[in-house]
Amino acid sequence: MIFDTHAHYDDEAFNEDRDAVLGSLADGGVGLVVNICASRESLRKTEELIKKYSFLYGAAGIHPDYVGELDEAGMEEISRLADEEKIVAIGEIGLDFYWDIAPREVQKEWFLRQLTLALEKDLPVVIHSREATQETLEIMRRVYRESEGRLRGVIHCFSGSAEIAKEYTDMGFYIGVGGVVTFKNGRKLKEVVEAMPLDKLVIETDCPYLAPVPHRGKRNDSTLLKLVIEEIAALRGMTAEEVERVTEENARRLYGLG
Ligand code: NI
Repeated sequence: MIFDTHAHYDDEAFNEDRDAVLGSLADGGVGLVVNICASRESLRKTEELIKKYSFLYGAAGIHPDYVGELDEAGMEEISRLADEEKIVAIGEIGLDFYWDIAPREVQKEWFLRQLTLALEKDLPVVIHSREATQETLEIMRRVYRESEGRLRGVIHCFSGSAEIAKEYTDMGFYIGVGGVVTFKNGRKLKEVVEAMPLDKLVIETDCPYLAPVPHRGKRNDSTLLKLVIEEIAALRGMTAEEVERVTEENARRLYGLG
């Protein structure tokens, strides 16, 4: 089965036909999906969705673009949601120096707070890092060291070099690969996929965003992951079936869904 490790089905892009899309995923070969929170509103929506759909799990956290909404009550809300059985990670959390919506020091502070929460809850983290490769790696290294290697999780929509990927996989982190690997200008990511250890590779849509070629620019959904799987298979000299099976196993290990 296809395991989509990173989706945003609470996004308004699915408001018109959310139930129809989610109801059709199984026919497209999709067996498991983790819905990732971004804003405080998405905490509530994700809680509803995981109750409604058995194949849907969730990650609780606030995206760096939305940390302006975060306060102690918000941290309480994340903490309470994280205790739900179907919440399998804290995320997405991290640094976004591309949009720079919240001041960088504020982003770093809430990133650290949510990393600490993940350690308290013994959950993996889902990391968002945009135009902040070095700063993110520095924080991840430090918390990994201070937690004596207990920090674990996935670097979502990985955009760094093969060297940076190795830094993460050496610490045991997974690398999330999606539609970008099919893009003509996705050569850096193709190199990462070729070089990285196969047992740390997971696939993700980040839907509604980042639809693979030939659907680039349109609304994405988990069934389109078959195009990502085909591209990875070509890069690694494997069959699509093998890639689907291995990435499912990896995702189950990442999120503790044995
Ligand atoms: Ni995302």
